[in-house]
Amino acid sequence: MTSRPRPHPSSTPPAAGSARAVVLIGFMASGKTSVGRALSHMLGWTFHDLDARVEAQEGRSIPQIFREAGEAHFRHAEREALSTLLKELSPSSPAVIALGGGAFAQSEIRRLLAQAGVPAVWLDAPHEELWQRCLGEAVDRPLARNQNQFRQLYEERRKHYTEAALHIHTNGKDVAEIAEELIGRLGLNRHLKEK
Ligand code: S3P
Repeated sequence: MTSRPRPHPSSTPPAAGSARAVVLIGFMASGKTSVGRALSHMLGWTFHDLDARVEAQEGRSIPQIFREAGEAHFRHAEREALSTLLKELSPSSPAVIALGGGAFAQSEIRRLLAQAGVPAVWLDAPHEELWQRCLGEAVDRPLARNQNQFRQLYEERRKHYTEAALHIHTNGKDVAEIAEELIGRLGLNRHLKEK
């Protein structure tokens, strides 16, 4: 009897070079989108930003969704958007996916990723650093309006983030260094025609 290789869950690193998609997780302003873009360029993979897909699916911005429909609706939309995206992935079109900061805290999202065999990479930084980055960025984040709530949410979510296959400390590193570290630790192959 032949046994088929089983898909690895999002908490298990894939065998070196075998990943055909990677998902970046972590708290708000942890660099998921900027590292995701750099990484996709280095690998020659397609980049997908889940927040952008939620906005396109809903036809409105994230602050609008929170204001007009509430957080529960936003979380539902995140699950829908990820489920649709995972169905679109194929081995011939490998992908880097950046999730919003709260997505991986949802058990259904972790289940979808595990089922699809997509490893999660946690970009970590101290909450003071993340708060300062949020203040300095032009992005309107409905859950980054109060520093105490921000810190509380950060503490609550860490137990979920620890389920990622890979944990990268980003403090003091630039985007390219983080992407390089990720490629090295997951044993991925760089795109040869990268400019
Ligand atoms: C959220 C993070 C945001 C966005 C939404 C909710 C969160 O994404 O999904 O505002 O719950 O942490 P970023 O992590 O890209 O800021």
